[in-house]
Amino acid sequence: MTSPLIVVTGATGQLGQTLSRRWSEFPLHQYQFKVLDRSELDLHQAESAIAALAELRPSVIVNAAAYTQVDKAESDSIGAHRVNAEAVGRIAAWSADNDARLIHISTDFVFDGASKTPYEPSQQANPLGVYGASKLAGEQQIQALAKQRSAIIRTSWLYCEYGNNFVTTMLRLMEEKDQLSIVDDQCGSPTSTHGLAALIFAMILNRDAVGIYHWTDGGSISWFEFALEIQKQGVQEGLLSKAIPISPISTSEYPTPARRPAYSVLDRSRALADFDCSSDDWQAQLNRVLKELASK
Ligand SMILES: NC(=O)c1ccc[n+]([C@@H]2O[C@H](COP(=O)([O-])OP(=O)(O)OC[C@H]3O[C@@H](n4cnc5c(N)ncnc54)[C@H](OP(=O)(O)O)[C@@H]3O)[C@@H](O)[C@H]2O)c1
Repeated sequence: MTSPLIVVTGATGQLGQTLSRRWSEFPLHQYQFKVLDRSELDLHQAESAIAALAELRPSVIVNAAAYTQVDKAESDSIGAHRVNAEAVGRIAAWSADNDARLIHISTDFVFDGASKTPYEPSQQANPLGVYGASKLAGEQQIQALAKQRSAIIRTSWLYCEYGNNFVTTMLRLMEEKDQLSIVDDQCGSPTSTHGLAALIFAMILNRDAVGIYHWTDGGSISWFEFALEIQKQGVQEGLLSKAIPISPISTSEYPTPARRPAYSVLDRSRALADFDCSSDDWQAQLNRVLKELASK
């Protein structure tokens, strides 16, 4: 008898790469593990994506691929919805028909940011932009078509040591520029892909993981405060030669095509209660990633 297969989409993404690098550290040895890039499973071509699944017949699908260009989505609603909603619906239907489990990643951008307290998974979503709306539509497809076989993990401010993200961008700009101005009126929580990967592996091992979960590294900070910590630790770890002045600015001083929630802290208590996953604080998670960058 062949081993059950875990298929991960989005091989080239931050999370896809982390899942690929870390999976052998977890007790998943009864599974085969396959990470697919866009050429092997294209969410823009739902028919061929389903054909790829039908050929591989995975027992578990982790959908780490997504249309993630938040600003571009504002002028490409059809493209964003095709990848983040329509294809996700097709995958959900396939998983329900074929007795496969689906673990899907979603976003804090499903919320409008009007709350003053951390968002619980059951709270009303109300996305401000096309990206958030397309991700919410994907969630709704999953809940309609594969509710009993799926888990949705909403996360925020994702970063790791590879790829372009806020941390790697800040480190680059802090070396290139004499000063920086960073938005101080959007509040959220950073999330290392490593902690998120650990939760996903824990969910694969726990077949009862069903419904919506929230996962971040905790904290309730602004991008400005995140930048200050990146600089402080970046200097300590020898990644930055000096500290430069960083000024807080408002969102109105840094206009972008897509509106972003002013507050998107996620309440992760359900995930912490259900899984034995790391609850290290965000500063410690950041330090692990910076140490990894420093060792390169
Ligand atoms: N980044 C964040 O701050 C953040 C915050 C909250 C939630 N999330 C969610 O977390 C998940 C992982 O995000 P991430 O930061 O790892 O994303 P990422 O680094 O932007 O990577 C996205 C991945 O999706 C793939 N992809 C895009 N369109 C595709 C298509 N049509 N068919 C197949 N693959 C396609 C990309 O492939 P190519 O390289 O070929 O383009 C890439 O591998 C996503 O669901 C995202 O919505 C991210």
